[in-house]
Amino acid sequence: MGVPSTLLRPVTAITALALGALTLSGCGESSLSRSGGGQSGGDVKIGLLVPLSGVYAPLGADMRNGFQLYLDQHDGKLGGRTVKVVTADEGESPQTGVPAAQKLVTQDQVTSVVGVVNSATALGLRDFFHESKRPLLVANAGADDITGARKSPYVWRTSFANGKVGAALGPAVAKATEGSVYLITADYAAGREMAAGFRKTFEAAGGKIAGEKYTPFGKTQDYQPYLSAIRSSGADAVYSFYAGAEAVNFVKQYKQFGLAGKVPLYGTGFLTEGGVLDAQGEAAVGVKTSLHYSTELDTPRNREFVDAYRKAYKEAPTVYAVQTYDAAAALDKALAKATGSSGAELAEALGGIGTIDSPRGPWTFDADHDARQKYYLREVRSEGGTVVNAVIGELS
Ligand code: PHB
Repeated sequence: MGVPSTLLRPVTAITALALGALTLSGCGESSLSRSGGGQSGGDVKIGLLVPLSGVYAPLGADMRNGFQLYLDQHDGKLGGRTVKVVTADEGESPQTGVPAAQKLVTQDQVTSVVGVVNSATALGLRDFFHESKRPLLVANAGADDITGARKSPYVWRTSFANGKVGAALGPAVAKATEGSVYLITADYAAGREMAAGFRKTFEAAGGKIAGEKYTPFGKTQDYQPYLSAIRSSGADAVYSFYAGAEAVNFVKQYKQFGLAGKVPLYGTGFLTEGGVLDAQGEAAVGVKTSLHYSTELDTPRNREFVDAYRKAYKEAPTVYAVQTYDAAAALDKALAKATGSSGAELAEALGGIGTIDSPRGPWTFDADHDARQKYYLREVRSEGGTVVNAVIGELS
């Protein structure tokens, strides 16, 4: 599904600004070589662009932890080269995220940028990285187009595409629900695409939509009017995307309003992930979601990862930490493989890294530079006093 033009307009303006600055500073392929990209030894500078402020700040903290854990487990090196990490604040929107990325590339002269939580910001950055020929490893933002209609040799994604996480859940909900489903998500690229992906496979499997609502992103705290509309619609289930602080409020209010236990709540896994789930507590029990990770995946690789992460940070990891840990793993392989020091050579090397042995399970980049991976059906359960995302099935 396309991005609303209201979102694209400011993004395009910022991209033009950022590209102007890039040209002015004379930063392109040659200055990338000066900054030491590729495998020629020495240090390598990597930019980490994650939210340190705004509704998604906790996700940014998880991403920093994931990246750092990989470095700590590999002697602080990627591809045999000592890494200097330069962190920048993505903030809550392209208005903050695009200039922050621009600074990492033009001033800090990083070899590659890792991160980006917000889909609108990722869309705003696509042309900048394409033109500057500097690899961007998107470690969260799911905007469908950046590995679809607007894919680039310089944009790679270690996370997911919004539409695919939604689509994975559609048939399972159609099977479990006799009647109709109400869609409610945050009103920006991610929410709209996760709703569209779900709707496509849900309707194809015979499901009916009872109603839909897109709530103002980053501004909605009181969901009561929307919950009233859901109740009056007579829907038999609800499908939703929220993350961070919005997910905490939505799920808690869903319970307070008396819908939990009566109208089953489904969503993409961000709705009940990590610190969000801790804050929701028992209010989230019974919520079912699709995602490519859960701390509860019972594999030796995941158990080892969860133990190491807990030891380092005194809390459980999240999908955000895993996606960024895996971005470090991808860069590790690519920097070791790259035949030269340009962004083009690093981007080409990313295409040949093969399988990443991830805590989520093995995955590879597909032809569009997206992660080809398994999706799991998860249910929030209360186990021994803590709430967890139990894995109750695999989705196609
Ligand atoms: C997105 O904007 O793509 C996005 C943000 C937060 C999430 C998932 C997707 O948890």
